[in-house]
Amino acid sequence: MKTYKFAIIPGDGIGPEVVAQGLKVLDAAGRKFGFSTQHKNFDFGGSRYIKTGNVLSDEELSSLRAFDAIYLGAVGHPDVTPGILEKGILLKLRFGLDQYINLRPVRLYQNVATPIKNKGPEHIDYEVVRENSGDMYMGKGEIIDGGTNKEVATQIMYYSYEQVERCLKYAFDRVMLRHSLSPWKGLSEEDKKAGYIGKLTLCGKSNVLTNVFGLWDRVLKQLSKQYPKVKTDYYHVDAMCIFLIEAPERFDVITTTNMFGDIITDLAAVTQGGMGVAPSGNINPHGVSMFEPVHGSAPQFTGKGMANPMAAILTVKLMLEHLGELKAASGIDAAAQSVMLKMKSMAVGQMGYSTDQIGDMVAESIK
Ligand code: IPM
Ligand code: MG
Repeated sequence: MKTYKFAIIPGDGIGPEVVAQGLKVLDAAGRKFGFSTQHKNFDFGGSRYIKTGNVLSDEELSSLRAFDAIYLGAVGHPDVTPGILEKGILLKLRFGLDQYINLRPVRLYQNVATPIKNKGPEHIDYEVVRENSGDMYMGKGEIIDGGTNKEVATQIMYYSYEQVERCLKYAFDRVMLRHSLSPWKGLSEEDKKAGYIGKLTLCGKSNVLTNVFGLWDRVLKQLSKQYPKVKTDYYHVDAMCIFLIEAPERFDVITTTNMFGDIITDLAAVTQGGMGVAPSGNINPHGVSMFEPVHGSAPQFTGKGMANPMAAILTVKLMLEHLGELKAASGIDAAAQSVMLKMKSMAVGQMGYSTDQIGDMVAESIK
């Protein structure tokens, strides 16, 4: 029997309570689908930082390389200055472990309310492949004459050929994987006749950021020759915000830069029913990946049993899919859907069940 070793970072606020539900589901899936799991807890987060002053040391970061995957709840603490935990833990992990993809599936499940009128599960089902290693997040730039009236502050949108190529390659592969069994239903008859099985949309701003998107476009065109079954198209990021609301059915896999990806995936998460249901994976295809719900630590709801663990549970699904446990992943997906059918709402405190009950129900429904 295969044994997976997971590093668990419950984190702050509602992190520990939603992670506990995810772990119930993970273990139940292991029992059903024939693998065993080992968990090791790490206490990185705001509480530890306040007590000890330690954020995340290089040794601690390195120790995570020994695991099959990392499962993280949320980091963020109201008493810690913004930026310290985000940069010191989350971004240090993503960068330090070279998790260069941030995969964010956007899918509206049955019985989940979307704020978009006249759109249902058949319209909202795509994935965002957010580049996760470059852009303004790299911290390239400087402050000149800080604190004076002459201050100049820069944070550069940086992309190398290599960063762009590895992201786009992952995105093309994602389209191929998504449609290995049946083609994307958004394709026209003509597209299907032309041999396409899915679509990759680049989201950028090539009318202004000509250097950076000149590079992305060049690599997209080059790689596209190796993926003749993947149709490609392009949207400016501002127009993307229109169409994610007006016509989400246009999208299959979207890929974009780190900063644009951060922004459009919050918008996208709202369309899929909100932060209570949005999972994500920080992926290093050749190393250790880290899976986390998109939501934050929501300190105001801590310990009240109000938080929706569905995002954390769907994150476990994504993690197992990444590890190749495809049957377990679809088992969790079906179980999660069956429980969502019973829930009153995906919103915090309005679910009709407690955090714990939802975890139990999903774990028990895995078939
Ligand atoms: C996210 C978050 C992070 C990001 C923050 C907390 C650093 O917004 O995961 O989307 O900007 O990537
Ligand atoms: Mg974000």
